Amino acid sequence: MNSELILNNLFNEYNLSDIDKNFFINIIEPIYTHPEFQKRLNSKIYPHHAKTSLGEHILNDAITSYVIAKNGDFGPLDFKLIILIAMFHDLYELPWQNSTIVKHKFANHHGFTHPLEAAINAITWFPDYFLNEKEAAIIIDGIIHHMYPFPVRAIIDGFIDTELNNLDKVNNIPSNLKNIIIASSCRIRILNVSISKSEFLEGRIVSKADKLVSLKKEIKSFNSYKALITGKNNDLK
Ligand SMILES: [Fe+2]
Ligand SMILES: [Fe+2]
Repeated sequence: MNSELILNNLFNEYNLSDIDKNFFINIIEPIYTHPEFQKRLNSKIYPHHAKTSLGEHILNDAITSYVIAKNGDFGPLDFKLIILIAMFHDLYELPWQNSTIVKHKFANHHGFTHPLEAAINAITWFPDYFLNEKEAAIIIDGIIHHMYPFPVRAIIDGFIDTELNNLDKVNNIPSNLKNIIIASSCRIRILNVSISKSEFLEGRIVSKADKLVSLKKEIKSFNSYKALITGKNNDLK
């Protein structure tokens, strides 16, 4: 499904006003039109949950996060940052289901490391959103901890032993942002993983929306649930 069709369906589903639609589109347009995002809209190349493409999952998460934030009673929130965290949260490097990539450490499997890959890819492909360090910290922390209560890999001795699929990009990202990723990934650390909510409300809302979208809308078959644990999904063969 192309992005316009997906967005129209979601706008109808959530009954968004024209003002909300325009606000939302203005923020996501430079991201969803990027070739790396467009590639992830192909469910044959990037199936994320069952047959939902990674791109569709991300758009769904972004709009659900925005709707939760707008309708909730959370106090002051930065809606733009919420949408950006959602648009970046799963921008990992390679498809995870039925992958043949061998990870030597258990804590380096996709479930634990993909938020780190997403943060690195987002900074690489969309550097302009990370120029303001205060905003960058909120976005990065939201991406890193979106899987909570599932742990994220902690970066203890630099990125070397993390077996990331986009490790080659790490050297080219600014050192202040690298330090934010490292510090965020080590909060509430147990051995080589961190189990922590995002420090910021914006990230926590995206994390909540991610679960709602994944469990209520996308994962419908037994094989797709099983894939969350085994990484193998017979439905995709
Ligand atoms: Fe994720
Ligand atoms: Fe997600």
